Amino acid sequence: MQIFHSIQTLQNFLKLSRLEGKSVGLVPTMGALHQGHLSLIEASKNENQVTVCSIFVNPTQFNNAHDLAVYPRTLESDCEMLTSAGCDVVFAPTVEEIYPQLPNLKFDFGDLERVMEGTFRPGHFNGVGIVVSKLFNIVQPDGAYFGQKDLQQCAVINRLVKDLSFSLKLNICPTLRETDGLAMSSRNRNLSPEQRALAPHIYKALQKASQLLQEGTSGEAVKVAVQNYLSEIPAIALEYFEISNFDTLQPINELSEGKTALCIAAFMGKTRLIDNVIV
Ligand code: PAJ
Repeated sequence: MQIFHSIQTLQNFLKLSRLEGKSVGLVPTMGALHQGHLSLIEASKNENQVTVCSIFVNPTQFNNAHDLAVYPRTLESDCEMLTSAGCDVVFAPTVEEIYPQLPNLKFDFGDLERVMEGTFRPGHFNGVGIVVSKLFNIVQPDGAYFGQKDLQQCAVINRLVKDLSFSLKLNICPTLRETDGLAMSSRNRNLSPEQRALAPHIYKALQKASQLLQEGTSGEAVKVAVQNYLSEIPAIALEYFEISNFDTLQPINELSEGKTALCIAAFMGKTRLIDNVIV
């Protein structure tokens, strides 16, 4: 596996791959890798001759200094996992390499970012939009792979690809979970053993909500049920639970014609976790 820290050396390598007619898949990550990330590598490997995994803790998408400071950085073990997974290339740039100067450019994703993560993490999707655009321009992949775990991020990137005419195929891959249902996340490492034991209740709340909605319970009543369920577990502080149209991510009060997304964000101590299920 090749590891590059500079844009130039990465691009020199990719130029040769393209001359050999190889297609390139990109899996953008912030490291602290787990099986969920590796499932994206697997998806890219199935469709491309060269898979690039970028590892970059992007400062511009953190609106909380504490979250950025404690974000796990584990490049060495990440590279070991990626080697075992058969990844071809790691791109692990420094902050200076990606941001020789901070962009003044601002993305506004409209209604897509006026809800959920966009509301609670102001500026977050601007930072995601900037770094993902940079990575798309640097790598120029044929396909890019993202996880449904970050559903709103997928919607924002889908819009970004269309609005800026990025010539690549966007692939959304299913959420991988621990055996007790907790969605895999780099942030799970920051949970204490007690918090980790209780964290699966976040997914259980989503499952309960899904069941109630399918039984015909109104959106309002489902929201109250989720709040009541989680209020029994003081270690989990609910930030939001939303019932949304899958395509627009706008709030709805009952199951919609197409797919419905149930999205949740909660704090366990200072660790913020998100999850979603599709009904
Ligand atoms: P990060 O949180 O490291 O996630 C990298 C990719 O892995 C994202 O597409 C995310 O949705 C996916 N992922 C995370 N947990 C997953 C799980 N349990 N199952 C399947 N896929 C999962 O998302 C980011 O980084 C950043 O915002 C990034 C896109 C890299 C831009 O900085």
